Amino acid sequence: MLIAQLLLLATTAAGAPAPAQAVLGSAAPSPDSSAPPSPRPNPRPLVVWHGLGDTAHSKGMDQFADYVRSEFPGIFVHAVVAPTEGSPSDEQKAGWWGVAEELAQGGCDQIKGIAELEGGFDAIGFSQGGLFLRWYAQYCDGPPIKNLITFGTPHYGIAALIPCPEPPTLTCSLAARAAKAGIYTRWAQSHLIQAQYYRDPARMQEFLEQNSFLRDLNGEGGVDEGGGSGREDGGRGLVRLENMVAIAFRDDTTVVPGLSAHWATIDPLNTTHIIPLEEQELYRGDFIGLKRLKKAGRLHRLFCPGQHMDLGGEGGCGDRLVRKWVGWAA
Ligand SMILES: *[C@@H]1O[C@H](CO)[C@@H](O)[C@H](O)[C@H]1NC(C)=O
Repeated sequence: MLIAQLLLLATTAAGAPAPAQAVLGSAAPSPDSSAPPSPRPNPRPLVVWHGLGDTAHSKGMDQFADYVRSEFPGIFVHAVVAPTEGSPSDEQKAGWWGVAEELAQGGCDQIKGIAELEGGFDAIGFSQGGLFLRWYAQYCDGPPIKNLITFGTPHYGIAALIPCPEPPTLTCSLAARAAKAGIYTRWAQSHLIQAQYYRDPARMQEFLEQNSFLRDLNGEGGVDEGGGSGREDGGRGLVRLENMVAIAFRDDTTVVPGLSAHWATIDPLNTTHIIPLEEQELYRGDFIGLKRLKKAGRLHRLFCPGQHMDLGGEGGCGDRLVRKWVGWAA
């Protein structure tokens, strides 16, 4: 099955978790001779933030955490529950409906309350979850993220809505209908999560005026009331990360464009043309530190083959990347 169904679009009308197949292989360590020697001593902790429609402790997410624990014995793994006291059904709804900054702030408070994370941690964001972890890195006053790894995260927004699962769930259909009615209305921008990272390069004026979550994450604050650059809104930016590991899926058709996972956008003058990060003002002006990270060899834009969130099963692309970027000595 496509992992997309699991991590991104697992919502069911009844609110029950979707049946999960292996996300990143079983809990059993895989006998891969290319793996670095493990166990490594004293691995630093890991925080994971699930994708849209999923929950912190869905079967797939629990299997993922078990895989990480089997790979790095002794590692502390925390799956963010958003909202913090939410039931699985609340969590699924919160992926669609709400205020993105509030959900992210909730994750910040939750992480700050966990003693095992005090010394900093690595973090993995699945799809939309990666945006909330970026918010953490840029705005939260909690312990630092060291390696931030994002799988299929729409870092530079989506220029089309994420398609609903088949058959469509009520939550998704209602959100899609509301979004189509006016993605840049004040209402949509404060009630629909997807609207808060919707960035149509052909409608930049509306985006800059109405959006705050994604605009500020990318330091595109425009002109503030005092006439200055609003780019301080990018918070601390990403330059304090040890590594920013942004993974795109080669055949991603869920996120439009799929290369938003690498901060690319479609060209509004020619929508089959993708503008890479290096040609973006965001990069040239180094609004959030991506240029400094790249020059220091700490920005890694990688690929997995396949569709959105298709991590390749046991021993696949997802496993290999986790082994490479997670579990470093504290
Ligand atoms: C649009 O972009 C594509 C992909 O880069 C390119 O092949 C094509 O020639 C462009 N079309 C025009 C009219 O510039």
